[in-house]
Amino acid sequence: MSDSPNQSPARPHALVFDSGVGGLSVMREIAALLPQIRLTYAADNAAFPYGTKTESELVARVSAVIGTLVDTIAPDIVVIACNTASTTALEAVRKFLKVPVIGVVPAVKPAAAASQSRVIGLLGTRATVASPYTATLIAQFAACCTVLTHGSPELVEAAERKMQGLPVDMVEIASVLQRLFGQPGGDRLDTIVLGCTHFPLLGAELVAAAAHPVAWMDSGAAIARRVAAMLGPIEPAALSYRPAHRAIFTAESQAVDRMRGCLATFGLREIGFLEPTPYAEPNYRQDRA
Ligand code: DGL
Repeated sequence: MSDSPNQSPARPHALVFDSGVGGLSVMREIAALLPQIRLTYAADNAAFPYGTKTESELVARVSAVIGTLVDTIAPDIVVIACNTASTTALEAVRKFLKVPVIGVVPAVKPAAAASQSRVIGLLGTRATVASPYTATLIAQFAACCTVLTHGSPELVEAAERKMQGLPVDMVEIASVLQRLFGQPGGDRLDTIVLGCTHFPLLGAELVAAAAHPVAWMDSGAAIARRVAAMLGPIEPAALSYRPAHRAIFTAESQAVDRMRGCLATFGLREIGFLEPTPYAEPNYRQDRA
């Protein structure tokens, strides 16, 4: 089944992709900067979480799911709103897709440039923090700084819980942050990179649990500017147009049901499900929240 066509350059259509709800932190920046474009938010919840998977597992899975999504909905641009997927699978995905693909990587460069104390932190998933891509990013752009890193699956789960309206354990969040602030030099940390798109969704909780005040940096606004630059000028006729957005998940679950109210606050009232089958006709169906 293919998507209802609306691919006029006047009303571009962007696919924003993550393992779960984290990419919503990027989608909200894109929607704020480009309210006239149509957005499909896709979450590979069947394979969530990505951050504990190996590089080869990630390349295979991300390629399969994004390939199926692009075949099904034919977006004008793809945003991999997941640091874990981008730092491992971005090049592989770009090789087989004809549409432009933007990836999100940890904001190490602006953090290093902004830090006064020259001690910055990087919070990400375990996969992102351990990836060779991240090591290169740090060597290239933060050689002037001490970079303290920590990979946390707990924060990813906490963001998912928050989006489902479930309680967030502040003691757990404080203990995760202590793994960063408690490292040698942690008392001089002045900037922390949120190198996982789930983490900005916990902004208030992170501020409240930090051992001392720091600047928090993520890549959402920069990604939105990149999308705008790649799409180019939007035709004036489309400027008053406010398209409906939709969400696609790779598995039905109670968690998705609990999220419907929260998704609606992001303009995602239509929810669909798609099983990634890249070499066969995709099985797509949808219903309304
Ligand atoms: N939101 C994702 C990221 O930016 C990954 C979360 C996960 O699935 O572990 O890295």
